[in-house]
Amino acid sequence: MTSVRAWDEPGALEEAARLLRAGDVVAFPTETVYGLGALCSLESAVRRVFEVKGRPADNPLIVHVDGVPCARSLAREWTPVAQALAGAFWPGPLTLVLPRAPGLPSAISAGLDTVALRMPAHPCALALVSRAGPVAAPSANLSGRPSPTRAEHVFADLGGRIPLILDGGPCEKGLESTVLDITGEVPVILRPGHVTAADIAAVAGDVGLSPGVLGPLPEGSKAVSPGVMHRHYAPLSRVTVFLGEEEAVRASMAGEYEKLEEAGFRPLMVGIGAFLGYESRTAADMEALARDFYAILLESEKEYTHLLVQGVDGQGVGLALMNRALRAADYSVKVVDGT
Ligand code: TXA
Ligand code: MG
Repeated sequence: MTSVRAWDEPGALEEAARLLRAGDVVAFPTETVYGLGALCSLESAVRRVFEVKGRPADNPLIVHVDGVPCARSLAREWTPVAQALAGAFWPGPLTLVLPRAPGLPSAISAGLDTVALRMPAHPCALALVSRAGPVAAPSANLSGRPSPTRAEHVFADLGGRIPLILDGGPCEKGLESTVLDITGEVPVILRPGHVTAADIAAVAGDVGLSPGVLGPLPEGSKAVSPGVMHRHYAPLSRVTVFLGEEEAVRASMAGEYEKLEEAGFRPLMVGIGAFLGYESRTAADMEALARDFYAILLESEKEYTHLLVQGVDGQGVGLALMNRALRAADYSVKVVDGT
């Protein structure tokens, strides 16, 4: 039995904290996506998270903290760069990868010598951490599926497997946090998010981008962030991303839509602005598409066989959006030549 309770209803947070302290797992909202939390000090609870999600044991978890003092207690070193980045972006969608403190359950870090830390900007997530202690939480979906940005999406994947989902309504950002490795000379973005390379550069100087961000890793190379290796964010429908100049992309999407329809499939256009005359799920701008992207994937997968996704400019949050879209498409891309 899984109960769903509004996070701010009397007693809901207390129940969640009680479950966490008892070694159980609980789903809760953050400003990015819903998380599936376990108390990071309880090894068996952390293992339960992997079990419930069907998550490969080599993919480490993010630990959610309620401030810098809590983060410092989980990291072996707290550098000036960590301090500057936390000062600039916490609470918020930035996860910092640092050398891990001894004593943390090794399952959290999947055997790595580092730990990923984030202070979320959602009152529910913060209150939960403050009540129960630091919470290890991946996104609250079955491994490989799109991340949930609504309580009902958590329920669809994990209903019956977990005791409680705290409902905070739709998530404000809609894509997971930026993951930044700051263990080396130059910070490296392992996963792009709302906090962009330019935002980070303004605080920390040079920033690198992991090669896994916009394409599959070259054969034989080692992933620094194991999560980038696994197939991810895939809905049941087949996803194709169309890249190129906007008008040419729209024309190519229309051609593909008609071809699929003639062949008896049910295509759906996904993008920015209207697609008149076609079935579509669209958003007014890039921020809004980022916020709704996973919801679109999850809410259309039963009805539509093919999702045709309009590629966007990889600037700002566009890089995170394209990273998720390309992975949902398993890198099925159509590059459209506008000439
Ligand atoms: O916005 C978010 O980050 C959400 C909410 C719930 O906070 N959480 C989330 O967790 O997206 P998850 O598990 O779905 O993604 C965590 C990512 C994975 O790509 C994982 O490989 C990477 O962070 N990661 C975790 N620990 C790491 C570490 N020690 N070194 C490198 N990458 C790490
Ligand atoms: Mg995830």
